[in-house]
Amino acid sequence: MTLPRTDQAAGLSRSIPMSEQQIIAVFGATGAQGGGLARAILTDPDRRFAARIITRNANSEKARALAEQGAEVVVADIDDEAGLRAALQGVYGAFFVTFFWEHFSPEREKNQARNMANAARAVGLRHAIWSTLEDTRRWVPLEDDRMPTLMEHYKVPHFDAKGESNRFFDELGVPTTFLLTSFYWDNLIHFGMGPRREADGRLVFQLPMGDRRLPGIAAEDIGRCAYGIFKRGEQSLGQTIGIAGELLTGEQMADALGDALGEPVHYQAIPPAVYRGLGFPGAEDLGNMFQFKHDFNDDFCAARDPAIARALYPGLQSFRDWLAANKGLLAVN
Ligand SMILES: NC(=O)c1ccc[n+]([C@@H]2O[C@H](COP(=O)([O-])OP(=O)(O)OC[C@H]3O[C@@H](n4cnc5c(N)ncnc54)[C@H](OP(=O)(O)O)[C@@H]3O)[C@@H](O)[C@H]2O)c1
Repeated sequence: MTLPRTDQAAGLSRSIPMSEQQIIAVFGATGAQGGGLARAILTDPDRRFAARIITRNANSEKARALAEQGAEVVVADIDDEAGLRAALQGVYGAFFVTFFWEHFSPEREKNQARNMANAARAVGLRHAIWSTLEDTRRWVPLEDDRMPTLMEHYKVPHFDAKGESNRFFDELGVPTTFLLTSFYWDNLIHFGMGPRREADGRLVFQLPMGDRRLPGIAAEDIGRCAYGIFKRGEQSLGQTIGIAGELLTGEQMADALGDALGEPVHYQAIPPAVYRGLGFPGAEDLGNMFQFKHDFNDDFCAARDPAIARALYPGLQSFRDWLAANKGLLAVN
């Protein structure tokens, strides 16, 4: 069976046999990062790759929607290395991401990353993308008391576990691109981080970033950029690529929010220590994360270049683009 393939540059219309399409396995395809990648693969008019989505539940609405768009659906759990090996049989590449906020355990996250690297090695994967973050202990050793040590071994557990896990891919010689992601602007919708109305009627946007810049991105665009990396192929192997849609201060984000919502939004730079004490699960981890991004802002921003992200995905959204599409979802009363 063949699928139509349009080569616009050459002005020709060709077909590549479906059987010759290389397969990319996408973890987290029913979620944010993997979802963007799965949709990028499935909507590419060139049909360059086939998508195999990995899920724990093939019958979920999101898995079924992707299947209807042409994805192959395979059931596996990233806690199970043997299952991962089976799920990766016959694939060219895989997008690996772990899900810290499902369990809040850096040890479990490291085990899952090790499972992924082991399985990738066992099946002879040709291109892995590992969605990672900085091991902040390189900048803030555990004995540095500017921020508390958490769970005995970490400063920012959900960053440190991912950064520490880079070595599983390195040590096993898995051909890997290390993708440094950024704060999802979608957190303003799904994570309760959007503007809130104060008792005095003003809209206030709180962020523990002082006057520093926060690299942010539309979550959907992470997968879109990952697709750009797969399309580039082997030249990206061994590289660390950092992406962001824009690097914006809290003031700039508040201004854009105000323009989108049609009334002023006031930025309030709360101290990281106050954020750590907010009491919700993960507040200490996120308070330390924001302090890390603030205190090492030059390094953190330099590692994430919107121009690189745009080269990978020319449709990359700015914060204002994202707001235009999503402002109706911001729960502001
Ligand atoms: N929020 C941010 O600003 C931000 C920024 C940078 C990085 N991150 C990182 O992004 C990661 C999460 O990625 P995401 O936001 O794309 O996730 P997400 O939207 O929460 O999606 C999670 C998906 O992962 C799948 N999943 C969960 N546990 C699994 C398991 N044990 N085995 C197989 N699949 C499993 C689930 O699919 P099924 O239910 O279909 O199995 C689920 O749909 C976190 O580790 C976080 O630290 C977040």
